[in-house]
Amino acid sequence: MRYLFLFFIIIILNSCNEKEPVKPIWQPTPYTITIPKYFPTKLNIPTDNPLTVEGIALGRYLFYDGRLSGRIHHDSLMTCASCHVQSQNFRPGLTNPAFTDGMPVGIKGVPTSHAALPLVNLIWNSNGYTWNGAVHSPDGGTKNGTTSESNEKYSNELTWKSVAETTGTTGNIERIVLETILHPAELAGSLSQTVDLIQSINGYPELFYKAFGTEEVTADRIAKAISQFVRTLISTDSRFDKYMRGELQLTTEELEGLVLFTTEEGADCFHCHGSDGNLLFTTNLFYNNGKDTVFTLIDDRYVITGNAVDIGAYKATTLRNIAVGGPYMHDGRFKTLDDVIDYYSHDVKMSDHVNPLMHHAAAGGVQLTPSEKHSLKAFLTSLTDEKFLTNPDFAAPAVFPDGKLYDEVKGISSP
Ligand code: HEC
Ligand code: HEC
Repeated sequence: MRYLFLFFIIIILNSCNEKEPVKPIWQPTPYTITIPKYFPTKLNIPTDNPLTVEGIALGRYLFYDGRLSGRIHHDSLMTCASCHVQSQNFRPGLTNPAFTDGMPVGIKGVPTSHAALPLVNLIWNSNGYTWNGAVHSPDGGTKNGTTSESNEKYSNELTWKSVAETTGTTGNIERIVLETILHPAELAGSLSQTVDLIQSINGYPELFYKAFGTEEVTADRIAKAISQFVRTLISTDSRFDKYMRGELQLTTEELEGLVLFTTEEGADCFHCHGSDGNLLFTTNLFYNNGKDTVFTLIDDRYVITGNAVDIGAYKATTLRNIAVGGPYMHDGRFKTLDDVIDYYSHDVKMSDHVNPLMHHAAAGGVQLTPSEKHSLKAFLTSLTDEKFLTNPDFAAPAVFPDGKLYDEVKGISSP
């Protein structure tokens, strides 16, 4: 009898156990970047933030969710896409009604100090982010470059200044995300407010579990997820790419433009915007390209390196999708590609600091004829990748984790 009793207890205990939901082992799905022909094989992915399908999916929601600012009122939401618009090569574009001439303004009405940069093929950049390379991973990108390698290196209580102070010039896209949330000219928020709000939104904790193994939302994880998404923004399918792969022929005009682009006696563009046979159309390096003769020394490459050769130097940004992405240059001084071509043709200013690769600076520029300008523009336009600009994987999600529609969470100036 006693044994029978024990037998029942064991059965009851067992059935209790069976009812307890078994949590699946956390196993995110690795995401592999397929490196297209002619592209460099070295990628800039921090070792502590490998790409996963779940991390990228979470990052995409956060990139497009105005509540990343830590606010919920419809008039005070702002997203990464307020300034980085897919159809405009992840720049604001000239027609954004919230910004004059494509020069962004943060959530509090404070203008950013520079024109926005495109978010394209950044995974191949190991030479530093932002216009002057202020954010840089010292070993070429395999680490974040922060002082601590712990998962909590980005505390939820950081201020914009303390991010800059603790990291110096080191860091990666992860750091830019946090600075964006905090910066007075961008989301002007506080990390703890953002973290608390995201944690409280239905659906997000589960996505953090899928991406990172627990439901806990931290600033570090937000930064990591968004950075993963940004690293997937890859453009390799322009008319020019198809020509390189032998899939189509460029027009005579485009081919003339290509020759101009890649010859010193032509338009002489290739040294700075991609010279080593790679298809990034940027060296990701910094040059003074002769726009001015007086230099402010407040935000140029010189501020970072202290080398006289960097006075008035900024990043020679990628020319991929350049035809859709104005305004141009770090201060947005040129509105159209024609303005830029006119500038390089006959408006370059000679100074002690202009980079020697501006071979024709003393003559005021490369002196193109109207028909050459036309061809150069045609070639630059062949770098437009419609598939990238409309890729649904990079677009705003229609519905957010808590069931809200994009229209409800997108906030000011987002498309
Ligand atoms: C208010 C406008 C604004 C918002 C919002 C904004 N950005 Fe930016 N972004 C900029 C500007 C301006 C720059 C250029 C900064 C500089 O160099 O001074 C930039 C630069 C960057 C860069 C560096 C690109 C490069 O080639 O070096 C990255 C990466 C970036 N932003 C990602 C983001 C992400 C992710 C978000 C959302 C968390 C975001 N941005 C939100 C305006 C904005
Ligand atoms: C000496 C190096 C150098 C050469 C040569 C050069 N560029 Fe540039 N280019 C730069 C730098 C640096 C910038 C960014 C400057 C700034 O923001 O102040 C730039 C910016 C640009 C921009 C604007 C990019 C943007 O995202 O806003 C375009 C377009 C451009 N260059 C096209 C050309 C063309 C076309 C040629 C040839 C006629 C050329 N460049 C030759 C260094 C160079």
